[in-house]
Amino acid sequence: MSDKTVVFGLFEGGYLAKSICEKLKYTLGEIEFHQYPDQETAVFIKTFIENKTVIFVTSTNNPNEKIAKLFFSSETARELGAKKIGLITPYLAYMRQDKQFSPGEGITSKYFAKMISTYFDWCLTIDPHLHRWKSLSDVFSVPTILLHATQDVAAWIKKNITKPILIGPDLESEQWVAEIAKAADSPYLIVEKQRFSDISVKSTIPKIDAYQDYTPVLVDDIISTAMTMIETVDHLKTLGMKKIYCIGVHAVFSKNAYENLLATQVSDIITCNTIIHPTNKIDLSKSISDALKNSRLI
Ligand code: R5P
Repeated sequence: MSDKTVVFGLFEGGYLAKSICEKLKYTLGEIEFHQYPDQETAVFIKTFIENKTVIFVTSTNNPNEKIAKLFFSSETARELGAKKIGLITPYLAYMRQDKQFSPGEGITSKYFAKMISTYFDWCLTIDPHLHRWKSLSDVFSVPTILLHATQDVAAWIKKNITKPILIGPDLESEQWVAEIAKAADSPYLIVEKQRFSDISVKSTIPKIDAYQDYTPVLVDDIISTAMTMIETVDHLKTLGMKKIYCIGVHAVFSKNAYENLLATQVSDIITCNTIIHPTNKIDLSKSISDALKNSRLI
């Protein structure tokens, strides 16, 4: 029931909230924050939401800056009588911290999902970094909707790249690359990557002799420091490959990552619009709207 659903875009989620409302005839809600001099925040929900389904939309990149406002918004909605409150977070933060890598370290993917499960009745996300966690239900205690960008990315490749060879820059990427390659009718190879620190990565290039006349397309779920991509691009260049494309689902691009990747002079950098960025060329708003339309959670 469209007029019973109100969607609020938080932070940069406004564009997606608007697009979902246009597609599904939901009401676009109005919300405002006020920042006090002491940096505390007040939340004002301006749209009537009593007895309605409320959906908040925001990716959780830069999570620490967003968490308080996000959870206060949900609590405000609940206080104002919202019937059900969902979260659409196309990029779900913290998922890479999925084990205790060193003594004393917390497993923040678990804690973050636990916080979301406390404040929201359901959560929708796209290609979360499920590596050691096999399913979202390993960390969430509320129902989740898990979408993949596979078909949209494959369609973009098919339309824009001649004779692509898909390259997964590490073993973890195989789950995404294999599916996208299948959907794009392309071959694929996986690079072996060793990570020494947050910013130091060493890649071993697979034997691509058989693909010298193909166009390499690097595909990964997240581009954060971009070191994984840069290392792989550099190796491909030493093997004589010139026209190289980089595709990431989530354009996290921390600090100077984007500029550093651009400096490698790759032919193009393409991402999905889960996080707003100049590289967004693949729109996932239809996939999200279709999933909402078919979901029993709404
Ligand atoms: C990690 O395993 C992911 O799949 C990505 O390869 C990784 O997050 C990319 O990070 P960065 O851009 O910092 O190398």
